[in-house]
Amino acid sequence: MKYIRFTNPHVLFLLLVSAELTLFVFRLIFIGKPPSSVREARECLHLQTNTQESDDQFFQRMWPSLHQVVDKCSYRHFRERIKVIGSAKQSILWLNWLVDQNEHQCNAIFVHNSKSVAMERELKRYTRKCVIYSLSDKHTETARYQDPRYSVLTLKQNVSSRARHLGWGVDHYARDADSVDLAYFTVVQVHKLRYDSINIFYDGSQHIKSLFTKSPFDDANLATCQFNIIYNRPKGRLARRDFRYNWKRLLYDRRYLVAGVRKVRGSDDALAILLLNISEPYCWAKYISNQPFVAKNV
Ligand SMILES: *[C@@H]1O[C@H](CO)[C@@H](O)[C@H](O)[C@H]1NC(C)=O
Ligand SMILES: *[C@@H]1O[C@H](CO)[C@@H](O)[C@H](O)[C@H]1NC(C)=O
Repeated sequence: MKYIRFTNPHVLFLLLVSAELTLFVFRLIFIGKPPSSVREARECLHLQTNTQESDDQFFQRMWPSLHQVVDKCSYRHFRERIKVIGSAKQSILWLNWLVDQNEHQCNAIFVHNSKSVAMERELKRYTRKCVIYSLSDKHTETARYQDPRYSVLTLKQNVSSRARHLGWGVDHYARDADSVDLAYFTVVQVHKLRYDSINIFYDGSQHIKSLFTKSPFDDANLATCQFNIIYNRPKGRLARRDFRYNWKRLLYDRRYLVAGVRKVRGSDDALAILLLNISEPYCWAKYISNQPFVAKNV
């Protein structure tokens, strides 16, 4: 048997290079861009959850296993950059950014109904740059006397997922100050349009609906990169149907990637969901693709 021998090592090198090049050109022409991890993750999620079951069957199967499906499809792409902030009782997932320049800001909002700001403080320690707003009806309002560079801003505020039905109109200033929707709060009270993270600890199954196309967030030109939402176990047929509907919207709306799902420990059965806004260039650049970007009104 005779082996092909390259007397000149450069020939082998050239051969390899040209093979690589051909493959690359072929990919470029016939397949387009190489699939990003986001696309791969989304395809996997579709494949795993796009089934012909009834709503009840879907719930019975997916509720206990959703965290595993998401682990397998998307969490693995981000695992190295995701940090858990908080305690076993109450925590969020935080995806670290890829680009950070001096002029870039960071805003994060927490919505819950407890007195504690332990989680918020931990995030503040972890990323000093972020201005952190904590909204709870158990807080005493202190924001006005605090310096956002050093402390968490606490606001006595009840955020209602139903308040949005009041509509986003000329009379939004006339709304009931005790209970506002998130879009109203962020635009009218915080005066920011770009948020790195919004974390919602109650009424998650309702709040999640306000993220889809034609939501108050759209109307207000608001964009948030990361969403942590606690989704309580659906009780009753309507709630289960809703669970599936929300899941489908998340997949088909094409704006969010479900990046992580965890089971919440404790008495009530709930899922903690981390969503990434993949349709906003600011978020895509900062958290997914490592491209520099121009900060505008952030
Ligand atoms: C805030 O909302 C919760 C339910 O979402 C309600 O139980 C509570 O009474 C409200 N608090 C205030 C101060 O309006
Ligand atoms: C996600 O980004 C899109 C595009 O900028 C925006 O319209 C939408 O409101 C954002 N979603 C949220 C919840 O911020």
